Amino acid sequence: MPVLEWILILLSFVIIIILLLYMTDMVVSLIRSKWVPYVASFDKDITLMQERLSLTPGSTIVDLWCGDGKALRFFVQEYKFKQWVGYEISWHAWLYGKYLLWKQSISSINLIRWSLYTADLTKYDYIYCYLMPFVMKDIEYWVQNSINENTIIIVNTFPFPNRAPHKIIHDQSWKKKIYLYKKTP
Ligand SMILES: C[S@@+](CC[C@H](N)C(=O)[O-])C[C@H]1O[C@@H](n2cnc3c(N)ncnc32)[C@H](O)[C@@H]1O
Repeated sequence: MPVLEWILILLSFVIIIILLLYMTDMVVSLIRSKWVPYVASFDKDITLMQERLSLTPGSTIVDLWCGDGKALRFFVQEYKFKQWVGYEISWHAWLYGKYLLWKQSISSINLIRWSLYTADLTKYDYIYCYLMPFVMKDIEYWVQNSINENTIIIVNTFPFPNRAPHKIIHDQSWKKKIYLYKKTP
């Protein structure tokens, strides 16, 4: 068989393996995350936060379930945060996030490929969440009980069901809200 054919067979084999790994990771991540999809914050969410949020530069932030780190990249570029960490369960979202960081030459971000429940939340000034309503319900008490007095939780779109935010940022045209929470007694 000519060399070119061998190369094509090998290439097809590698592509099929990559596709199979990708699809397996997608299904396993969805099951492990209780069907929370990998959807990055929308550009309009980022613009809304850029225009209306006023955060302290040089702080620390963690994105609970960071996807490819899109929101984190915005926070670090906008506010020059000194430590920013994202937890992500899915391999493909994590790998893509790593690639984007490498492409944009951002070295200070730490994307951790692990479940968020292992995160030590006492280390952060800000916590960012963009999750599904049922997950917000699940993590509400864990997050509230694990943070410091001064930590601010920034919640995109789906609020905690049982606690009142201290501030809501509302975009009338985009019809989305950003909720800000502090630790409540
Ligand atoms: C809506 S995306 C968040 C995207 C990101 N925060 C942003 O704003 O660009 C939710 C992500 O949570 C991840 N996820 C779900 N359960 C998780 C868990 N227990 N630990 C870590 N990541 C999890 C999913 O794989 C998915 O990529």
